[in-house]
Amino acid sequence: MTSAHSIIARIRLLKQEKNAVILAHYYTRDEVQSVADFVGDSLALSVQAAETDADIIVFAGVHFMAETAKILSPSKKVLIPDPEADCSLARSCQPADFAAFRAAHPGHRVVSYVNTSVEIKAQTDICCTSSNALEVVNSIPADEPVIFAPDRNLGAYIRQRTGRSNMVLWEGACHVHEQFSREKILELKQLHPGAKILVHPECREEVVAVADYVGSTAGILAFCGWDDAQDYIVVTEPGILYEMRRRYPDRNFLTVPSTDSTLCCNECEYMKRVTLEKIARALETETPEVKLEESLRVAAEKSIRAMLDLKRK
Ligand code: 13P
Ligand code: SF4
Repeated sequence: MTSAHSIIARIRLLKQEKNAVILAHYYTRDEVQSVADFVGDSLALSVQAAETDADIIVFAGVHFMAETAKILSPSKKVLIPDPEADCSLARSCQPADFAAFRAAHPGHRVVSYVNTSVEIKAQTDICCTSSNALEVVNSIPADEPVIFAPDRNLGAYIRQRTGRSNMVLWEGACHVHEQFSREKILELKQLHPGAKILVHPECREEVVAVADYVGSTAGILAFCGWDDAQDYIVVTEPGILYEMRRRYPDRNFLTVPSTDSTLCCNECEYMKRVTLEKIARALETETPEVKLEESLRVAAEKSIRAMLDLKRK
């Protein structure tokens, strides 16, 4: 038995013994997605975290995702295999700065992307993900001004789709999606003229403008199911290719070369921190565990529940 096989066997055994579930994001390593009980986008992972009856949730993703699971399931043990798995977008919005921004915009409803810390969620009226941001913003009466945080690119895209001029944006961004270059995408398109361009809305406006489809990771995956192209240029983190190739083995998925010549494509180094070894260790030791101060958790929960309730309406 190879060592990868023995780690996977250990993970499966520990999961059973401890009634644990592994939730993984589409950007994690292939082998991590392969051992997960559920793989999804941020919205689907939040729903799973709220609904699971497991005693332990191992969150194979970045810190804000594990924190969201703990906010929704406070009685469960939520483990984050690598607590250093951060998110540049979440980090671009710090609590004291955000409080000052809110104070400078009185009377605004606050919509925050789930890619935020618990402290930001506690200052938010309703959360959103890239799957439901349009629906969330449209649920707010058109005459009520809105603060949209922290992603300026997603915010600009939603502002353009809704035509809403009363929406102010926090100036945050994801370092992975901001790196995509329109020129490199168009060069690839010249080589593959029949390819459709699939873009995550965290990309810059000029990149979104060349897309055939704009959507969340789950949206991008679903689009390929309805569509009949043979080739796709995938403008998001390349971890998603594992699920794309699994679902659609007869299509070609092309990644966009990075503008950094030392890298092949734009990977999220935080998502890649989660390894099989770290998952096995987390299950064995039941650490590192996400812990939250209760009043902060309760304040943050309201904004996530407001988003999940909208889904049920
Ligand atoms: P999704 O909600 O589309 O999965 O996006 C999460 C994320 O972190 C994008 O960078
Ligand atoms: Fe955060 Fe960007 Fe990584 Fe998504 S890809 S987890 S937004 S740093």
